[in-house]
This record gives sequence, structure tokens and C-alpha cells, in this order.
Amino acid sequence: MAWQTKPSGTSTVDRRAEPYYTQAMRDEIDQRYRPRYETPHACLLPALHLVQHAYHWVPPQAMLEISEHLEIPAADVLDTASFYEEYSLEPMGGTTIAVCRSIACEVCDHAKLTEALMDELGIEVGETTEDGKFTLVELECLGACGGAPAALVGEKLCEFMTPEKLLAEVRAAKSDGH
Ligand code: FES
Repeated sequence: MAWQTKPSGTSTVDRRAEPYYTQAMRDEIDQRYRPRYETPHACLLPALHLVQHAYHWVPPQAMLEISEHLEIPAADVLDTASFYEEYSLEPMGGTTIAVCRSIACEVCDHAKLTEALMDELGIEVGETTEDGKFTLVELECLGACGGAPAALVGEKLCEFMTPEKLLAEVRAAKSDGH
């Protein structure tokens, strides 16, 4: 495999005037999390969670804002945000549907779940519906192997799924106005 270079040295971050990492988020980190931990790095995961939950992704500007607030290198923020699947570096739909593709779910035919969702939503894995409501992904083990095949619809863990049951969960999320 050949090395792929990217123009990091000349890349720029699109910025909007309003911060993504709001004062309320800073206050929550300072008051709720900082006192618990010895290092500011320990506040990084909750800070990223706040941004991910608010916007359904972690914009580059937000990573810089977190870096400035916690006084840790921006590279550490990017390393962390890009390591965990829970954080998205691209805009996601209002509700992310995540089908587990790890071994227990694979042997319990997780593929049928993914296929049913692709048919229902008219998108492939990794894509977002045109109305921006749903993003479909496959993730590694959700920690619910005893309930395989498992999936997440937004933050709801759905175990022992069949295509019919999972589609019902998605339709319920749709009618909830997600
Ligand atoms: Fe699917 Fe663990 S393998 S939840």
C-alpha cells in the first residue's frame, strides 16, 4: 500500500463567528468534570461528547475551541476524536442508526438488518438520508453480545433484533420527529 499524503501544512479550518463549544459546555466541563480529574486530558471525552450530542458531529472549529479551553494540543483532540467511533468528523443525520457488525452479531445475521435499513432509508452504509434525519453506520461490538444481533437507534440500544423489529424502531424514531 502506498503512503497517502495530505496537505496538513496548508489546510485551513472553516470558522463561524459563533463558537460550537459554547459557554454552557465550558461551564459544565469546568464545574462537573475538572474537579474529578488530575489532568485536563481526562476532560476531553466529555467535552467531545457535549459537542457530538449538540451537533451530531465534531467540527474542526470545535476541536480547536476544546484545545484552547483545556490547554492541550489540538493534535491530541483530533487523535481522540478520530479514534472513537462515537465521534464523527463529518456531519451526521439527526439520528444515527448503528448496526453492530462484530462476531456475535455477524453470526446472528446482522447483514439482514443492514440490508433492511438500506432498503427502508434508500441509502448505503455511511450515508445520510437527503432530509438529514438518519445516518446509517455499522460499528464494532456495542457490548450487547448477549442480545445479538444488536443495533443502536440514536441512543436506544435495541437487542435481539429482526429486520421487522428494527424497522419498527426506526419508524418510531421518525414519528418522534427525530
Ligand atoms: Fe454485537 Fe457484541 S458483537 S454487540
